[in-house]
Amino acid sequence: MSEESAKLLVVDDEESIREVLIDFLTMEGYQVKAASNGHDACDLLKVETFDAVLLDMKMPGMDGLELLDHIRTLAPGAFAIMMTGFGTVETAISAMKRGAADYVLKPFKVQDVIQLVERNLAKKALQRENIQLREALRLYELSEQIASSLDVERIADLLIDTAREEIKADGVALWVQSAESKAYTCERRWMRSDLDASHLEIMSSINVSALQKHAEEGVHIFHGDEARALLDHDAHSLFGVLSVPLVSKGDVLGYFVAFAFDDGASFLEGKRKMLAVLGGRASAAIENARLYQDLESTFKQTIQAFANLLEDKDPYTRGHSDRVSKYARMIAEGMGLDKAEVELIADSALMHDIGKLGIRYEDLNKAEPLTEAEYEMFKSHTTRGKWMLEPIKFLHNLIPGVYSHHERWDGKGYPLGLRETEIPLHGRILAIADTYDAMTSHRAYRRALPHDVAIEEIKAFAGVQFDPELVEIFVTEISLEKRAKKAKAQRWESLKAPSERELPAE
Ligand SMILES: [Fe+2]
Repeated sequence: MSEESAKLLVVDDEESIREVLIDFLTMEGYQVKAASNGHDACDLLKVETFDAVLLDMKMPGMDGLELLDHIRTLAPGAFAIMMTGFGTVETAISAMKRGAADYVLKPFKVQDVIQLVERNLAKKALQRENIQLREALRLYELSEQIASSLDVERIADLLIDTAREEIKADGVALWVQSAESKAYTCERRWMRSDLDASHLEIMSSINVSALQKHAEEGVHIFHGDEARALLDHDAHSLFGVLSVPLVSKGDVLGYFVAFAFDDGASFLEGKRKMLAVLGGRASAAIENARLYQDLESTFKQTIQAFANLLEDKDPYTRGHSDRVSKYARMIAEGMGLDKAEVELIADSALMHDIGKLGIRYEDLNKAEPLTEAEYEMFKSHTTRGKWMLEPIKFLHNLIPGVYSHHERWDGKGYPLGLRETEIPLHGRILAIADTYDAMTSHRAYRRALPHDVAIEEIKAFAGVQFDPELVEIFVTEISLEKRAKKAKAQRWESLKAPSERELPAE
């Protein structure tokens, strides 16, 4: 039998029935206790855990139906089997309605009772397995989501959701250690909407060094005075604190802390393992997210350094890379591309003329037209840009834009003379952004053109030099921006005092 150690409680006022049941059920391998009335049964249920209660319907004092109600609150995990005298099937059914799992009519054969117990224990085991399976599945899903996230905010959200749903926390705070100063700061907080500022203050004033003392033990639950000792001041409303240290390679990266306030439920030991697993996953994910962020900022810094170097070399293009990047971003966002792609295009724009670093650029910034040799040298900046980026693997995604930003829709561009959609999208976007900025800023050989003239020029070359669909997007986006800027300026003007406004010319 699989449930050998199941604990049963027999409640009957007839001694002979108690004895028979104790004998036979013990022979079956169960642990059996007995009580002769409802009150004694309740006392036992308060101090011991039972899997099942077999109770008599008719008892002096507290009857079976009343005892059923107590079983539900005192031993919610136990099932009840009602034993009832002949001819009272209806009462037996009402007992089932009040929560009994089954009933047996007296006089019974002991074998029938044993079968009922076995059947219900098997049912209970199955339910428990189902719950465990569901929990395991949920844990698996959550930890997969956490592990695949490279965003600390998203990881924090998942942890907070878990604390709310799984451990019914009233409040949650995520403390994360700064990579530089090693100090812990509260990065995220959440609390139940009906709580007030005093609870928020408690959550913020937890003493992290007090948590540190228990970090090695893993998930730690503090209740009552032990919880309140974590604060520097008195806070009677604090009832429980659950701390999950986020440890990666021996370093405590942070603490995930759940709070229970006065009338909140206490934290269950049973959730400790789940939180430990999630905490482990979250720590690894935070570590990864940090490495990724470092890599990303190295990437951005590298690009900015190259862009600065380029602009330093050529005063006429000061700010050009930044502006081209802004216009390219406008087009990419107007197309509805995803965030990562937009960033890539904006970065490619910052780097689009990087190949000019390798050529004698001073000679090219002159008022007179370029000689053919000079023009060839100028054109080589696209190929040189590609050649410069090739050895740097993490800049590879920028090559298409850098290499093809001088291709033309009609195939008359360089370096390859690609046509229409043969030209990589990044190149087609940069061509418009680059040309618009070149036209609207001063150059050695001409002054800046007004916005409207430049736009007409770009439109005139849609389908010739530029991708016509992208021109349409660019024209729409930039007019929207100009309009928004104008409206803002007008609004500020209207807010000025009359004396501050520009006086109309006499
Ligand atoms: Fe260029």
